[in-house]
Amino acid sequence: MRTVLVLNGPNLARLGSREPDVYGTATLDDLRKACAATAAELGLAVDFRQTDDESEIIAWVHEAADRQLPIVLNPAAFTHYSYALRDALAMRTAPLVEVHISNPAARESFRHNSVVAAVADGTIAGFGFGSYRLALRAIADMLPGDG
Ligand code: DQA
Repeated sequence: MRTVLVLNGPNLARLGSREPDVYGTATLDDLRKACAATAAELGLAVDFRQTDDESEIIAWVHEAADRQLPIVLNPAAFTHYSYALRDALAMRTAPLVEVHISNPAARESFRHNSVVAAVADGTIAGFGFGSYRLALRAIADMLPGDG
């Protein structure tokens, strides 16, 4: 069974209490469970992680490159300025889908640019936790079939 890394950047551990009008009231653990359920439907395993630390998320991206693991990535605020994360992702060896819970294009102008988008296969934004469901589906579709 293929494993997909689901990586979450800064402040996403605060889901549930963080700006609920923007991000909803469900928690990061709810998101983890939703990803695990979707992955099971797709015949995938999920390794779900969150960090507020740029060096830690970069180390996870290096690990994914070394292990040929696909990534669903919510870079959170790193989306908008982390060239270090972007350069790490450029070394990827498996599919990468960028996700956002909110729709950054409909928010403040500093959120309109993603430095990550150009090195991803695609971006899914604005569907709440559904963005992750769609991203896992996209990863499943990109992986070679069993037969
Ligand atoms: C976010 C959008 C980003 O602009 C923001 O910095 C986040 C969350 C989202 O999932 O909607 O932390 O990535």
